Order: sequence, then structure tokens, then C-alpha cells
Amino acid sequence: MKSRVSNSLTIDAFEARAVDIDKVELEQLHALSIGVGWPHRAEDWQFLRDVGHGIVAHDEIGRVLGSAMWFPHGSDFATVGMVITSPRLQALGTAQWLMKRAFSECKGRNLRLNATRAARKLYLSLGFRSESTVFQRQGEARRSGETPDPLAGADLRRLGDADLGAVTGLDARAFGASRVKLLTALLDQSVGFGLYRDGRLEAFALCRPFGRGHLVGPVVASNDKDAIVVAAPHVAAHEGEFLRVDTHLAEGEFCTFVASSGLALFDTVTTMSLGGTFLNPNDRSGGMPVTYALASQALG
Ligand SMILES: CC(C)(COP(=O)(O)OP(=O)(O)OC[C@H]1O[C@@H](n2cnc3c(N)ncnc32)[C@H](O)[C@@H]1OP(=O)(O)O)[C@@H](O)C(=O)NCCC(=O)NCCS
Repeated sequence: MKSRVSNSLTIDAFEARAVDIDKVELEQLHALSIGVGWPHRAEDWQFLRDVGHGIVAHDEIGRVLGSAMWFPHGSDFATVGMVITSPRLQALGTAQWLMKRAFSECKGRNLRLNATRAARKLYLSLGFRSESTVFQRQGEARRSGETPDPLAGADLRRLGDADLGAVTGLDARAFGASRVKLLTALLDQSVGFGLYRDGRLEAFALCRPFGRGHLVGPVVASNDKDAIVVAAPHVAAHEGEFLRVDTHLAEGEFCTFVASSGLALFDTVTTMSLGGTFLNPNDRSGGMPVTYALASQALG
């Protein structure tokens, strides 16, 4: 790893070293996120390590004091996430140091992340600009009525491996970058529904175990009705269970559907970017596919 950022940092009384995230025990990462009240399971960390890269700040006796991850897509784009500093060691420069190291690994790439309130100022100071709000909605899922039928001429199907090409193609149009590796891994872990018209995939929604229950995302569609048609079977399948959706959408039928499915607003984060174009899904005027729900806050 070539980097001009120092490989060690004195944090309080600790001398920390940057270590590849693959080299630490999963349980240490799990303890780090539990320490800041995040719901990730050890399996969620392992999934993120499988699809991305990261570093941790390690002290002399091998304790993990902080983390930062990045998820490259193609040659010029990455999302950044899982930026955490152990609570007792915050405001000492750890996250800034980890971010600068992540920057040097992501050199030449446009970056996007979803910032908590605690982290927004840090990212602004690193040159990120705010783009849009993400609404984290969650709760006990309930059916808000009959599961909507697809419109005439459309075919709602369970997705399988054969749909990977169609899913990655549609996702790339909405997300602005091709995420083949990530979507291959997500399809493997998820139940997915796709809406086909004339043999062409026009909308899809994946749902997988995550955190306290299940998470619906990504969801991609060109209009609210199609987004509801592909997401509704997941709500029905998890009725009475904990379900979560992270969405940029601030209003419209999809929002109403999510709220009436029992998923109340829990928190918001801010999508921020450094370089590149952010395709805001709140602009749905062009009939183009948009990302109705995120794969997760770290993955975008
Ligand atoms: C957000 C978070 C990662 C920040 O981590 P951190 O290690 O405290 O961050 P830093 O110390 O690098 O920077 C935080 C602040 O401390 C200041 N700081 C940096 N070095 C400092 C030093 N030596 N002495 C005092 N303050 C310092 C920074 O200027 C920054 O101040 P600002 O926010 O007013 O600009 C941490 O609060 C956290 O883990 N929160 C919970 C999880 C979370 O929300 N993660 C963000 C996901 S997007």
C-alpha cells in the first residue's frame, strides 16, 4: 500500500497503526459498531468485507479503535462507509486520519457516502458536498392492503442468477455506476422480485437479512407504481417482522406505501459526494430508472 498519509497516529495515550480490515477478528468489528449503537451483525460486517476494502486503527495490543471502508465500482467511483471511532476516543482526529488513508487508496475516484449528523462537519472539511437526505424507515411490517398487481402487460417474477445481467444494467442506469460485484453478492443473499415488460427488466427489489431483521434494497424502478409492485411482496413476506428501507424519496406514492407498511421514520443521514454526478431520485420527471431504496447506507 503506497500512501503519503502516516501509517501511525497517537490517539490520546495510544499509538495506533492502520491495519487492513481483513486482518482483524470479525468480533472486534462487531464490538466497534455495537459501541456506537449500530445494528450490524457480524455477518453484515463479513458481507461488507467480501464486497469492499477497509482499514482499522489498531493499538499496540491489537484493540480496534476505529474503522473506514470503501467500495469501488468500475475504475472511477467508490462509496465510503463504516466510518466509526470508538466512543471514548472520539474528537482526537482518528476518523480524519482513517478517511485520509481511505482517500489515498481511492485516488482518482469520485466518492459518495451517507453521513450521520456526527460526521457531517468532518466530511465537509474534507471537501464533500451535501446532495440529498436519506430517510431511514423501519418497523414491524404490515400489509397496507391487497398486494398490488402489476399493470397489464407486465410480468412480476422471482429473480434468479439468470437475471444478474438485467439487474446490473438497470441498477447502473439508476445509480450512475456499474456495481456487478456487489449485485452478484447481493443477489446471492437476497430474495428478489423483478418486473418484466416485453422481456425487458423495468423494476426490481431485493430483500436480505440485515441488522435487526430484513432490509429491502436496492429497489430500482422508473415510477412509483412499479417500485411498489416489486417491493410489496417483501412487505407481505415479512409481515409482523422487523423490516427496514433506506430511501432518498421525500414524497409520493412509494413513500406513502412504505409508511403505510409500518415503516416509520427512524433517522436521516445526508448523502455527500466528492466529484462526480449524483442522480437525485426525487427527480422522477424523465421516466428514467431511479434508486428507490439503497442497498445500505454504506453501500449506497
Ligand atoms: C463521526 C465519527 C466517526 C467521528 O470520529 P472522530 O474520530 O471523533 O473524528 P475526528 O476526531 O477525526 O474529527 C471529529 C472532530 O474532532 C476534531 N479533532 C480532530 N483532531 C482533534 C484533536 N487532536 N483534538 C481535538 N479535536 C480534534 C475534528 O476537527 C472534528 O471536529 P469537527 O467535527 O468540529 O470538525 C465518530 O463520532 C463516530 O464514530 N460516530 C458514531 C458513528 C458515526 O456516526 N459514523 C459516521 C458514519 S458516516
